[in-house]
Amino acid sequence: MTSEPNDITRRALLSRVAVALGAFLSAALGIPVIGAAISPAGRREEAPWITLGPLSGFAIGEPRMVQFGISRPDGYLTTNSPRSVWVYRPDANNLLVYNARCTHLGCLVNYRSESASFLSPCHGGVFAASDGHVVDGPPPRPLDRLDHRMDGEVLQVQYRDFLVGVPNQVAL
Ligand code: FES
Repeated sequence: MTSEPNDITRRALLSRVAVALGAFLSAALGIPVIGAAISPAGRREEAPWITLGPLSGFAIGEPRMVQFGISRPDGYLTTNSPRSVWVYRPDANNLLVYNARCTHLGCLVNYRSESASFLSPCHGGVFAASDGHVVDGPPPRPLDRLDHRMDGEVLQVQYRDFLVGVPNQVAL
């Protein structure tokens, strides 16, 4: 039959197309997975320890805000973003460090000494300075507390961002 050579050629061509398509799909699926594994953005960073200053700089009973910048990988770039915490020493033996972002939608809270509370200026959320619990307004959870440690006489905080607007604390 005269059609046999054409069939073989067609079969060979289809086979090559199938192999090429398989290789293309493997590469298309595999490259993003490998890229995510080796890129800076694909790795979960450990929360950085930030130096806040000598303990003597934080008066008992007077919360003090500390602002600093954190470096975060963003793809192959590194961005520096401002962050804030409130340090509160209720007495000589205890110390609390709060993320200063309101847990409702992330506005920075201010301290009100007359009521010993933190007030969110955006929607009236109020948090107790004593433990960060919600006193009033729409915040769905207490202020986020951060781990801290002393390096000699210097206070450090392990800074984390958290998802806002949700009742459970979710670290980002
Ligand atoms: S952002 Fe704080 S109450 Fe809405």
